[in-house]
Amino acid sequence: EKGGYDYFMLKEIAEQPKAVADTLLGRIDAEGSLTLDEVRIPASVLREADKVVIVACGTAFHAGMIAKYAIEHWTRIPCEVELASEFRYRDPILDQRTLVIAISQSGETMDTLMALRHAREQGARVLAICNTNGSTIPRESDAVLYTHAGPEVAVASTKAFLTQLVACYLVALYLGQVRGTKWGDEIRAVVRDLAKISGEVDRVLETMEPVRALARSLADKNTVLFLGRHVGYPVALEGALKLKELAYMHAEGFAAGELKHGPIALIEEDLPVVVVVPSPRGRSVLHDKIVSNIQEIRARGARTIVIAEEGDETVVPYADHLIRIPVTPTLLQPMVATVPLQVFACELATARGNEVDQPRNLAKSVTVE
Ligand code: M6R
Repeated sequence: EKGGYDYFMLKEIAEQPKAVADTLLGRIDAEGSLTLDEVRIPASVLREADKVVIVACGTAFHAGMIAKYAIEHWTRIPCEVELASEFRYRDPILDQRTLVIAISQSGETMDTLMALRHAREQGARVLAICNTNGSTIPRESDAVLYTHAGPEVAVASTKAFLTQLVACYLVALYLGQVRGTKWGDEIRAVVRDLAKISGEVDRVLETMEPVRALARSLADKNTVLFLGRHVGYPVALEGALKLKELAYMHAEGFAAGELKHGPIALIEEDLPVVVVVPSPRGRSVLHDKIVSNIQEIRARGARTIVIAEEGDETVVPYADHLIRIPVTPTLLQPMVATVPLQVFACELATARGNEVDQPRNLAKSVTVE
């Protein structure tokens, strides 16, 4: 049942191109418009929404963080994203014009379920993004957009995450389409890029051998740090979460701009630091700032592991290890940047002799609060 792989996690990482393609299937028409009629929330409700609130836990929360960038950019609707476990305990402001998006692979996460119940009690509409047909979260929501990742068995979420991102992009683009924003042309272009992204994920998977070798060489380290900016920041958090749960290593993700506000004090000789570099096109200011961050940490002895777009030569002099990812639109970069981090964590867990599919102390779905 592991399809020839040693672990479900490896199988599920390899299934990502298909999972991504399946999640897009039937949702983009021949003209490049989105057809999300299955999201039975009337267009009028989507037009009138004045706020989007995303609730989720763990890896699904990281997908939500990335969704916030996409939703605010393409729709100009204010969007908050909050850990489901914190949400209902702080008396959040919600009403009929709030669209709540609950993201959950299993559909059974108690924290997320309690958050959405609270939201509905306040009159908000809830859209679930979920991978498990007929599970509790979609049943209790006003609408659901299913991710078509297929069953995810390994405790560490991989293909579910990539398909959650696809679903979030679809919702963001659909909201933009329904409401009509000045980004119409950009939205059409991104829909075309989204249709190609499964092939890009496949290309990344073909180049993972050096990442595995690098992971094995770091098996006796205690700490790995991850830095990113913009949508690369949630990617850094996701890389760190994967490493914690699988390799049982101290791993932390930071927004690179925060380095000088504290975390740079952690940098010491030979400390591995993974840096997710934004595209030099588009938000090039951020790119240049992160290249300076790489120089700063390297000057203090860090071993820099740089994830950068193909063709970005500026990073080469400062990268002790360079992991290349395909050129993608800025907001879609997490789709390709996360994959090496999954492979990295899986390989490190294996090298450290850990149980990859069933990490200690964890359950696949967390049905208690
Ligand atoms: O089933 P859910 O998506 O609601 O689960 C949420 C988290 O428990 C889950 O993503 C967890 O963080 C994973 N083990 C991460 O790999």
